[in-house]
Parts: sequence; structure tokens; C-alpha cells
Amino acid sequence: MSIIIIGIESSCDDTASAVIKDGYLLSNIIAGQEVHKAYGGVVPELASRAHQQNIIPVVDLAIKTACITKKEISAIAFTRGPGLLGSLLVGSSFSKGFAQALNIPLIEVNHLQAHIMVHFILSTECDTGKPDFPFLCLLVSGGHTQLVLINDYLDMTVIGETIDDAAGETFDKCAKIMGLPYPGGPLIDKLASEGNPDRFTFSKPNVKGLNFSFSGLKTSFLYFIRDRLKEDAAFIEKNISDLSASLQKTIIDILLDKLTRASAKTGVRSIALAGGVSANSALRDDLINLSHKKHWKTYIPRFSYTTDNAAMIAITGYYKYQAGLFSSKDVSPLARFGYERSV
Ligand code: KG4
Ligand code: ZN
Repeated sequence: MSIIIIGIESSCDDTASAVIKDGYLLSNIIAGQEVHKAYGGVVPELASRAHQQNIIPVVDLAIKTACITKKEISAIAFTRGPGLLGSLLVGSSFSKGFAQALNIPLIEVNHLQAHIMVHFILSTECDTGKPDFPFLCLLVSGGHTQLVLINDYLDMTVIGETIDDAAGETFDKCAKIMGLPYPGGPLIDKLASEGNPDRFTFSKPNVKGLNFSFSGLKTSFLYFIRDRLKEDAAFIEKNISDLSASLQKTIIDILLDKLTRASAKTGVRSIALAGGVSANSALRDDLINLSHKKHWKTYIPRFSYTTDNAAMIAITGYYKYQAGLFSSKDVSPLARFGYERSV
């Protein structure tokens, strides 16, 4: 019999639902929240309210688009954490009620683990195939930056992570310094395509081992801009493409340097990208170029699987369903939530 999992994601500012049948994606619906743009970042209280408004229509559309009936659903997978507690509460409460009403199992999913699991979504279109185990994943999102060693579907070990800001956060904060709206990452990506990445130099961290640090880069960017604005009030406007390209290059260099060290240290040469920042065009291109030089096998996610989505929640639920990893109906969301060696 087929296994049909509906995924529900509400950890930050996207309300999403998706249906996976036997590992294949049938629908993937996302409602973003424009309301945060004016504030330069996600406002938690506004995010929870928007999730409340969006969740029922989003889940309904995911079911209709997948052309399934509610009776066919095998289990409900939802994001338990990490994320904004108010946002997580909306998705988890809805999922618990829905599972109770349909009398089917509930599966909690770790949002970070789920970002990596997109590499296991099957496709009827031409496909690069699933990565072989073990593989390394550079997981780069708005809230996290990690190097993860994946030994099996639900067996993952974090071997390096940021000690302060995440890569996506650095894109967003530096974009804000330049007066760009939230989220700044995609805008910097676009502006950088017309800029000179070698025009400006920003400080790179000196962190031992496989950990990352981005707060020094953000501060050096802030001071650099502040000093230049004293000389020329139109400095940002005149140089925004070069600033974006140079900043982006610095972030990518930091990420790829640690990824190279991680591969050398572990001897693993199958390399995957995941998380919102993996939508960055220069990061994708630079990783492909690097993998040619290093003879790595590289797995780059589709754009629709990079930023927050529920396909990743549903595919993780699919594997947890097969492993019999179900949650009790009184499970509560967790703002901080680890996922190593399966949860
Ligand atoms: O994974 P995600 O959707 O949410 C979290 O789990 O955090 O990642 C969102 C982050 C934001 O910081 C956003 O600016 C960044 O991903 N991002 C990008 C690009 N698209 C999204 N950063 C750089 N270039 C992009 N094209
Ligand atoms: Zn995410």
C-alpha cells in the first residue's frame, strides 16, 4: 500500500504544506508573509497571526493539488522546531488536531534535518539521483550554518557550525545596512551579478576547526560603510553592485573554505548544499567549480527546495514513518531542537 504523508511547516515566516506519496512530491504550497518587509526582519507576533490565517487554506490547497482525499493520508508530519515558538505553535496545534480528527499518526520533524532531506525527494523528471552515504552537507539558512555528516537517512552528525551569526543572517543584516528590505539575501544575489567581487575587501574570521563565524564580517561591513558615507553620502547608491558582489564573495569564500577542510578531514567527497542560502547563484556556481577541481560529487537542491518549504517536512516524515518514529499527541514545539543521530 502507498504511504502518503502531508507535511506542515510554520517555523518562521512561511506557512507551507506539501504531499509526498511513496517519496514522490504531489504538491508543494507556500504562503509567504509580506508584512515583515517594512520592519527589516521577521516580527514574531505578526508571523504567528499570519500563520493562523494561512494554515487552513494552505493545507486545503496542498491536498487538492495532490488530488488525494483526506482518508488516504497515512500520517501528518509537522515542524516541531527549531524556530519561533509562536509560529511553531500554530503548525503543531493544527497538526495535532488534524491527526486526531483523522485518527492517523503524528510525526515531529526537525526543520534543519528536513532541509537536508530534500535530497531524497524522488522526481519523475530528469534527476541527479539520491546522494550515497556518507555525504557532507553545507546547511546554510537564515538561522543556522552547519557542516553535517550524513551517515544514513536519519543519522546525521553536526561536525561544524557557526559560533555567532548564520550566513543568511549576515546577508540580511548587511543588506539592511545598505538600506535594502528583508530578506536581503536574494537582493544581494541579484545586485552582485552586475558587480565586481574583487573591488572591496572585508575581514574574514580566524576560527579554528570546522566552525564558522560571521559577526566580525558584519561589523567590518558596517564600519566600512559608515566611514565611506562620511566622505560621500551617495556611496552606497554609487557602489551597491560592487558592495554586494564583494560581500557575497567573502561569505562564499568562508563557507567553501570550511567545506574543503571538512571534506579533507572526513575523507568524504560527496557534497550537498541545503537551506535558504543554497539558492544563491554564486554559491551554487562556485561549489560546482570547486567540485570539478576537487573531484567531488556534488548535489545542489532545486530552487524550490532551498528556502523554507513543506516538501522537506513531508519527505522527512516519510522516512520516519517507515522507521516507526511517531510522536505522542501531547508533543509540544521546541524553539531550540537538536537532530543528531535521529530524533
Ligand atoms: O532556509 P530559509 O528559508 O529559512 C531559515 O530556516 O532560516 O533561509 C532563509 C535565508 C534568508 O536569510 C535569506 O536571505 C537567504 O536564506 N536567502 C539567500 C538567497 N535566497 C534566500 N541568501 C543569498 N542568496 C539567495 N539567493
Ligand atoms: Zn529553514
